Amino acid sequence: MPRPKRPGEAQDVGAFPPAEAGITVVDWIDERTSLSPGIRWMLFRKVPKGINWAYTLGSATLFAFLAQAVTGVFLAMYYRPDAAGGAYESIRYITDDAFLGQFVRGMHKWGASVMIILIFLHMARVFFYGAYKYPRELTWIIGVVLLILTLVMGFTGYLLPFDQRAYWATIVGVNINGTGPFVGPFLSDFLRAGPEFGATTLSRFYAIHMLLVPGAIGALIGAHLYLVSKLGITAPPWLKAEPEPELLEHSEV
Ligand code: HEM
Repeated sequence: MPRPKRPGEAQDVGAFPPAEAGITVVDWIDERTSLSPGIRWMLFRKVPKGINWAYTLGSATLFAFLAQAVTGVFLAMYYRPDAAGGAYESIRYITDDAFLGQFVRGMHKWGASVMIILIFLHMARVFFYGAYKYPRELTWIIGVVLLILTLVMGFTGYLLPFDQRAYWATIVGVNINGTGPFVGPFLSDFLRAGPEFGATTLSRFYAIHMLLVPGAIGALIGAHLYLVSKLGITAPPWLKAEPEPELLEHSEV
């Protein structure tokens, strides 16, 4: 039996579930950050009629990148960029001894190819639908940089197991880079971290692979998705002749 209220006693918020009283954690954060209009703007966009499964390829690429980031963090907990045998041994440890190590390493290795296949399919969708045209040129240009950075991730990651295949393939790759006009020799010097291929090359590749390039990819994906939200999605080319009223309304905003 509830105790009778004393005069002047504060209202008993316990009588209302927190959601009704407006004090959920989400409300608490939103009151201090005002993030919800931005999130609503990003998530509740109008999209043109006739979009199809090909439009999911960008999000699939994003998911592949996130999976690479998560599995990469776990690999980094055990990997050692030590050219005097430590790198190879740490990879052997991950594969043979660490709990679920072979599984996580396999996901990261196959995930790299999956991400590259998805990014090319996404680019092909954008190209064949003409979605790179005005006003989405900058979205495309950022996409090109994302493609190059994704390939850089593949190239730098290939050296990290530091076995014979990784070593010689990377020497070939660095030499090919060196044949590029003007910047080629500087690029190969930068990648080798000096005139000779050695211990510093491995730590340089590791720093590029797990810090520099993923950071840049994360920031550029943010810019890419901002532009996608701001400009809206392109209608399929076979429907473009008759623009949707909602689409017009969206582009006027
Ligand atoms: C890490 C790589 C990438 C991620 C995570 C990503 C993500 C996305 C997402 C989620 C969308 C919206 C939905 C869709 O059309 O799929 C999109 C749209 C777009 N992307 Fe990408 N993308 C990437 C790489 C690229 C590349 C390599 C290009 C081209 C060189 C590109 C060009 C575009 C363009 C022009 C649009 C607008 C499409 C439209 O308006 O219909 N993106 N991207």
